[in-house]
This record gives sequence, C-alpha cells and structure tokens, in this order.
Amino acid sequence: MAQNDIHSAVQERYGAIAENTSSCCGPATDCGCDTPSATLYDNALLEGLPVDVTNLSLGCGDPVSIASLNPGETVLDLGSGGGIDCFLAARQVGETGYVIGVDMTPAMLMKANANKVQMGVHNVEFRRGQIEALPVTDNSVDVVMSNCVINLSPDKTAVFGEAFRVLKPGGRVSISDIVTEGEFSDALKADMAKWSECVTGAIDVADYTARMQAAGFVDIQVVSKVNAEGIVPRQDGMPSIFSARITAYKPA
Ligand SMILES: C[S@@+](CC[C@H](N)C(=O)[O-])C[C@H]1O[C@@H](n2cnc3c(N)ncnc32)[C@H](O)[C@@H]1O
Repeated sequence: MAQNDIHSAVQERYGAIAENTSSCCGPATDCGCDTPSATLYDNALLEGLPVDVTNLSLGCGDPVSIASLNPGETVLDLGSGGGIDCFLAARQVGETGYVIGVDMTPAMLMKANANKVQMGVHNVEFRRGQIEALPVTDNSVDVVMSNCVINLSPDKTAVFGEAFRVLKPGGRVSISDIVTEGEFSDALKADMAKWSECVTGAIDVADYTARMQAAGFVDIQVVSKVNAEGIVPRQDGMPSIFSARITAYKPA
C-alpha cells in the first residue's frame, strides 16, 4: 500500500474516534488499541485526570512510567492522540519541563487542545505533523515516548530516524507498541481496516529493534512482551501478536 493511503486510512479511523468520543459516552470502543486506561495505568497515576482524557486513551501500555522522567526534561510523544501520556508526563517534568505531542489527525488535536484548556496546563503543546517527518528541531528533546502508534506507520525506519534526530545526545526512548513474532501476509498487510486497528502494520520484534539499531540507537531493550490478544483482534493465520515495552538510548 502507498504511504499516503495508509496515512489516510489511519487518519480517518482516529478522526472518527475523536469525533465520536465524549465524556458522556464512555471510553472509546471498537477501535483495536482501545484498552481502558484503568487497565493500562496504575490508578494512582490517573487521579485527577478529566474523564475526557481517560476516555480517549487508545494506547497499549504505559510509556510514561518506564521513561523515569525527571523535573525539567523535554519530552516528545509520537502520536499523542487525546493527550493522556502528555498530561501524565507534564506532571512529572513539572513547570520547568516541557512536553510536545505530535499527531497528524486534526480532530484528535482538537480534542487534545480542549483537554489541555480543561486541565489548565501550560507546559504541554500539541503540534500537527507526521511522525515520519517530525516538526521538531534536531537534538532538542530528552525523551521520545510513544504509545501504540509506530505500528501504524508505513515507514517505521523513517520514524526511528526522526526520533534519533530530535533527541539530544544521551537522550532516551520509551515505547509501548504492538509487535509480532513472524510476519503478516501481504494480503493482511493490505487490509487497511486491520492496519488501522493496530494489527497488521505491526512487525516482527527483531525487525523492529534492528531498525532502531540501524537508526543509531544503543542499549535497546525489550523490557516486556506480553500476549496482546486482549488488546487487538487476532485471527487464525496471523503471527503471534504482543504488546511490548521497548527502551533505548541515543549515544552521548
Ligand atoms: C492508537 S492511537 C494512540 C493515541 C495515544 N498515543 C494514546 O495512547 O491514547 C494512534 C494515534 O496516532 C496518530 N497517528 C497514527 N499514525 C500517525 C503518523 N504517521 N503520524 C502522526 N500521527 C499518527 C493517530 O492520529 C492517533 O491519534
């Protein structure tokens, strides 16, 4: 599939989810990576977050907790959605830190900005852009995090190259994502509904980490890798699917 076709299908799906999720209607449902926030995050972390934020949690893990953020750090969230991880990170980096969320879907950015106003936070900024060509300057962030997004990208090599470019030397990545052991068939990869549900865009974990290494990352660790059948809809003929947490560093 052409890169543009994949971006359009993904944008259509997440635009519709953003437009159809409201605080009166319960969490986003029927959208692949839609595990309720309460099962992904420690409940204490979610305390004080508005329901508009927790209801639009579409991740498959908790990249903020494994990032071990420090006050004053600059954090970039790839595919920030409604902003849940940005708001959690903003609490940890404090007023002297800064959090940038990048997302390509206008309706999602509108939700994230409305959530920002509702929360009254000033150290978070949402930017429109593609994670394959980040609207972020070179060597400017301490931590790149992402939650269930890189599997959706048609060009994961470019995403890792961009993450490496924008990180300061010594900076780190903290990723939660869907990965596989084995490959999807070309026919399944061409199924845009399943790709957009965070299923058939996922790649073998060894390929994933090899691409990170090729981008220049070191000390790449698959911190955990658990069966993702409760998160994404797996069918017969598909490889094993996992929700993984992956960390790495840009050399100092
Ligand atoms: C599964 S949702 C995850 C949202 C958020 N990280 C969370 O945990 O709730 C995927 C998000 O990534 C965005 N996205 C997907 N592919 C993208 C790309 N290539 N560039 C920028 N944003 C992208 C979508 O618009 C959507 O908001």
